[in-house]
Amino acid sequence: MFAVQSNYPLDKLNTLHLKSIAKKYFALTDIADLPQITAEAKESPIFVLGGGSNIILPEVYQGLIIHNQLRGITLIETTDEFVLVKAMAGEVWDDFVGYTIAKGWFGLENLSLIPGTIGASPIQNIGAYGVEVKDFIESVEVYDSKNKQFSQLNNSDCQFKYRDSYLKHNLHLIVTSVTFRLLRMAKLNTNYVDVAKALAELTNPTAQDLRNCVIKIRQTKLPDPAVIGNVGSFFHNPILDMALVGQLQEKYPTIPVYPVNDEKAKVSAGWLIDNLSLKGYRQGNVGVYDKQALVLVNHGNATAPELLALASYIQDKVWTNYAIRLNIEPLIVPEKHKNYEK
Ligand code: EPU
Repeated sequence: MFAVQSNYPLDKLNTLHLKSIAKKYFALTDIADLPQITAEAKESPIFVLGGGSNIILPEVYQGLIIHNQLRGITLIETTDEFVLVKAMAGEVWDDFVGYTIAKGWFGLENLSLIPGTIGASPIQNIGAYGVEVKDFIESVEVYDSKNKQFSQLNNSDCQFKYRDSYLKHNLHLIVTSVTFRLLRMAKLNTNYVDVAKALAELTNPTAQDLRNCVIKIRQTKLPDPAVIGNVGSFFHNPILDMALVGQLQEKYPTIPVYPVNDEKAKVSAGWLIDNLSLKGYRQGNVGVYDKQALVLVNHGNATAPELLALASYIQDKVWTNYAIRLNIEPLIVPEKHKNYEK
């Protein structure tokens, strides 16, 4: 018999702290429970919750929330060059990053202090300061709740892209663990200007120094979700054709541009919003963070509709002013949805 709870409050389980209730809630601590709990949900929608740091929850979720709390870290293989280390999906991301560096396993330092869990990391291919998690993922284990079987996806099966993956569009695949290929010798990535600047002040910086520096940068730019509700960047940085980028640069010479390939470049959505003087803008309970225009915040007691109304307002302004469509980055969880839908 499973301990499924009814009308369970999710306010503290999402970093936006949106008011939300799940009709049914189950805390998953044993992987062996997955076949039965998903089978028992029958036609009822299922959503798997990790750290709640990249989702927008509805006021009432009409299905079953499976809260992934699978824990454990296992060293699978070690060679002179690399280690393969498997972390269960419910492990806290940043604790794992700290643990790997302490062990002398490198690669994840630039991804320090990203909120959330291991299980969410491949779904949106988390990235920061010149690194994406896809560069260090060997494989992902999932439970396929549609075909009722456990399986493994290798790195290429995951079809990783900028803040996107196959998993993001196939939520019936429940991530149970992620295996990382990490380096035994640190190779510090200092492509990002602020990181390079901070590290230049140190002699022979280590991976731990890089981690400390990323933590400092994040703490100055991004609000701590424990203090003010947020999900980090709220919109993707748009990827545009060079022709449009050229026009933008002519009109706005200071706009930050990051080339993707010969034909496309990413532009800074934060800059576009900031340039419309929206930093610190507030609509009732929600607003634009005053230190980073790409971050929307809950000033207290906000609901999903209020937040999405602010998002639309910003999207409209950006469209009117620059003819650019901004896409929302976090996953919007509907009240009700059919399982297995793409
Ligand atoms: N900028 C402004 N005004 C703003 C915000 C940014 O002018 O209000 C300018 C900055 O001065 C800078 C540029 O825009 O020149 C880029 O800003 P920032 O370094 O803060 O990064 P970002 O492009 O806004 C992305 C990721 C972040 C990641 C950082 C660092 C996305 C959607 N966001 O943000 O990821 O931490 O780069 O690599 O790609 C997240 O996904 O939740 C997230 C926080």
